[in-house]
Amino acid sequence: MAAKLIDGRKVADQIYADLESDITALKRKGVIPKLTVVLVGDDPASAVYVRMKAKACEKLGLISETLTFPASMTQKEILQLIDQLNANSNVHGILVQMPLPDQMDANEVIERISPEKDVDGFHPVNKGRLQSGLDAFLPCTPFGVQKMLEYSGISTVGKNVVIVGRSQIVGMPLALLLAQKRNNADATVTICHSRTKNIDFFTKNADIVIAAIGKPEFITASMVAENSIVIDVGVNRVEDPRSERGYKLVGDVKFDEVSEKVQAITPVPGGVGPMTIAMLMYNTVKAAQE
Ligand code: GUN
Repeated sequence: MAAKLIDGRKVADQIYADLESDITALKRKGVIPKLTVVLVGDDPASAVYVRMKAKACEKLGLISETLTFPASMTQKEILQLIDQLNANSNVHGILVQMPLPDQMDANEVIERISPEKDVDGFHPVNKGRLQSGLDAFLPCTPFGVQKMLEYSGISTVGKNVVIVGRSQIVGMPLALLLAQKRNNADATVTICHSRTKNIDFFTKNADIVIAAIGKPEFITASMVAENSIVIDVGVNRVEDPRSERGYKLVGDVKFDEVSEKVQAITPVPGGVGPMTIAMLMYNTVKAAQE
């Protein structure tokens, strides 16, 4: 492999080390940050993510609570639950794991969470504050990508950053974050998506390509430049009869061939995933400080 591997687990450990003094200071004041996660239904991938979030809380000495409900939960019931959690001063962060079952209106659920407890950074108030350059809870995956670049010594200033994918959770907020006039941003950002003509024209001219489209191994070696940096946000389950569980995880980047060509790359798993969880811990501590 020619490329340098950007190890998300190592960077996440640095974030955890940096958080320790803040957690100790809060504990001295009698405050232990508490994250409440709401999981509705039985999506297996969601269950794995929720367990990883709880484990990270445990590791840092934060309180974590996971409330699980059947897929038949109603909109009224989840809104009532959120009202209770908003009113509970022991709960600092609220996270409703997505996706929600079809009968629920996810936007209404997100809007019901108090913006001060919205550690996912999904509430329109936090999105608006990000867009306005104000202090906000930043969505964990975009924030994690930015921190990962920063901690790896990769500057985004004046760079051509091409984001492939325009989701509300990753592509859109990441573009806003990296285009801002501030440290670890100041990039020239292009968003490519399913209707973009000649995606490779953009990706080939990028200094940094960020793949967040949810299509397994979409970015191939012929689409990227030598010397570029490739960040893979994708986590896709693809069938693998050789694996005991019957599937394997692959990113949105064809890792084997792209890693032979570029300057640096993130693996899947072990790249952006651990950073998303680290920034959730960061946001939970921040929520407890406020
Ligand atoms: N589902 C996939 N990613 C996320 C995330 O970052 N937050 C929540 N709440 N649900 C998700």
